[in-house]
Order: sequence, then structure tokens, then C-alpha cells
Amino acid sequence: DHAMGAPVETPLACHDAKVDGIGPVKCCPPYDWGHLGHWGEIVDFKFPSPSSPMRVRKPAHRLDHVNLLKYKEAIRLMKALPDDDPWSLTQQAKIHCAYCNGAYYQKGYNKIPLQVHSNWLFLPFHRLYIYFFERILGKLIGDETLAIPFWNYDAPIGMEMPSIFLDSSSSLYDENRDDRHHPLRVLDYDYTIKGSKNCPPTESISPKDTMTNNMCKMRYSVFRDDNLLIPELFMGAPVRGGESIESHGSLEGLHNTVHNWTGLPISFNFDMGNFFTAARDPMFFSHHANVDRLWEIYRKSRRYKTEFNDSDWLDSSFLFYDENKQLVRVKVRDSLKPSDLRYTYEDVEIPWRSSAI
Ligand code: C2O
Repeated sequence: DHAMGAPVETPLACHDAKVDGIGPVKCCPPYDWGHLGHWGEIVDFKFPSPSSPMRVRKPAHRLDHVNLLKYKEAIRLMKALPDDDPWSLTQQAKIHCAYCNGAYYQKGYNKIPLQVHSNWLFLPFHRLYIYFFERILGKLIGDETLAIPFWNYDAPIGMEMPSIFLDSSSSLYDENRDDRHHPLRVLDYDYTIKGSKNCPPTESISPKDTMTNNMCKMRYSVFRDDNLLIPELFMGAPVRGGESIESHGSLEGLHNTVHNWTGLPISFNFDMGNFFTAARDPMFFSHHANVDRLWEIYRKSRRYKTEFNDSDWLDSSFLFYDENKQLVRVKVRDSLKPSDLRYTYEDVEIPWRSSAI
């Protein structure tokens, strides 16, 4: 029946997630929360009003003071919410765990886990996930312009942990990061946990060479000709209802390295280095804002041609609590235009675009 095809859909039932080497983990949403009382009341997603303000996501390394204060305050409030509030950072992080560690079986397929990594759902899912996260943060401080700062690690100036995340007295801090990589350690797209876990980071090439190498890799991941012609090389392979596919695209591969480089390199790589804990670190959302921006750069070079003109992709759907504490069903097709979602990215230089690097 796989040949017939069907979109991947999120079911109502959720069960314990499985984490390799750890066992069952509780990642389900809080069923009994608040006035919803249960999962039952789901509404279909609607775009925000076209007249609502455009949120402008700015590079984290040069976030202005006013926006930094707002962002810190919003995250502080989110962290302070009770753990069973769907808006709390605890629950927001569990969303990632649930969709990544098998807490849902695909609707209609009772043994096939819903997995949003290593396939064509990766970019749309994460776009929508951080979209709701951002709107909830805005709601918490009553500011409809609040925007996630993006970690601009594709440009040399952003190839380190952004300093806004490193102040241990700030809400943006997370202690489960690899201390050897900050401050001022250059992010290395060739970093592997395997090679570095028990050894100091390699000093063999200069920071400048690492940056140049990174930009070459970035250019290759985004603009390599076949990537532009064959979206699954960039986005990840198709997965349809009832299938389990593990074949990630070039951007996701590079993104994995950034996770592993950031997370604590103990046996299970907390927080950023492991799916089920990654989104406990506020840096996660800035990392994904950049992934999302890179997807836009890719889309723009394809003149916004839909990557997969295939209803199995376009109608795949996810469930999220929105900024009104309403559970909504949102489809991949809803994710394709940031302007419809009322956010955009501040323009920054894209030094890796040219082949001169
Ligand atoms: Cu769901 Cu950066 O991974």
C-alpha cells in the first residue's frame, strides 16, 4: 500500500519516547492542561493577519540592546512557567523530543514512528516549530514584533557561540554545552564527536582556514548544482504515510554538526547534542532560525519553485499549541512563505555565495 502514497499525519495518541542508551522518556504534551482539558479540540491553522507586524529576525552577534533585553525577558518568563504549561520551555523542548524520539506513531499506521529528521519533513517541521515558539515568546512579553535572533554561523563573524548566550546570569544560558568550544573557539563544520570526545579540539589548522573551509562546505551544501535541481539532496528524502525513511539532505547534515559541536560531549551529549534534550538550550532556536534562513536562501535561488509538488509532502501535518493556547493542525503547505507567517530575516552579507572563497 506504500505505493499509493499518503501524507504523514500526527495522531492524537502519544506514548513514551525512546532514547537509545537511556530508555523510555516522557515527552508527551500535557493532556490535562488548562481549559482545553484534552487533545480533542484541534483547529486547522490560519495565517496571521496580513496587517500584523512583520517580525524581523536579526543576527545574534549584533543584536541591539533593546531587542536583547526583550528576548532575555521573554525566555526568562517562558522558563518560569510551570512545567505542565504548553508554553513552558520544558514543554517546548518536549515537542522536539516527541517528534524526534518516536513518541507518536503516524496517524493510521500504528507501528511506524513519526520522525521529522532525515527526510523531507525536516525543514518545514522546524520552521513551524520555531514559528509558534516565537509567537508564544512575543505573547509572554506582549510584543508582536519579538523575533528570534539567528545564529549567523555561515559567515565568519558568526562562527562561534554568540556571546549573548554565554553570560551565565542570563536566561539565554545553558550549562550543558561544550566548554571547550567557547569563548572564541571557531565553529568547525568538520567537527566530529568521535574524533574529539576524549581529545582536545584540534589546533592543526588556523581559525582562518577553518572559516574558509566552513564557507566552502556551506556553499557546496546549498548551491551545488544537483542540490538546486534535485531538492531531496538539499531537503532530505521523501517520506510518505507508513514509511520510515532515514536519508537527510545536505543542510541537515551540516546542521547536525552544529548541534554536536555545541552540546556537552558526555556519553549522551546533553543538551544540544541529543534530540530529546536539544531544545532545552535557547541556542537551539537561534540555530534553527539560521537553518530556516538558509532554506530561504536556497528557495530564493530556485525562484521559490515548490520543492516537491506532491500532496504527500504538502499535506503532511503537525500539531502545535499556538500563541493562544489553542492546539492547531498545520501543514507543510502552510510553511512555505515566511511573509505569510509574518516574519523575515534582516539582510546580512552572504560571503560564501561567491565561488572565490
Ligand atoms: Cu530537530 Cu536541530 O533538530
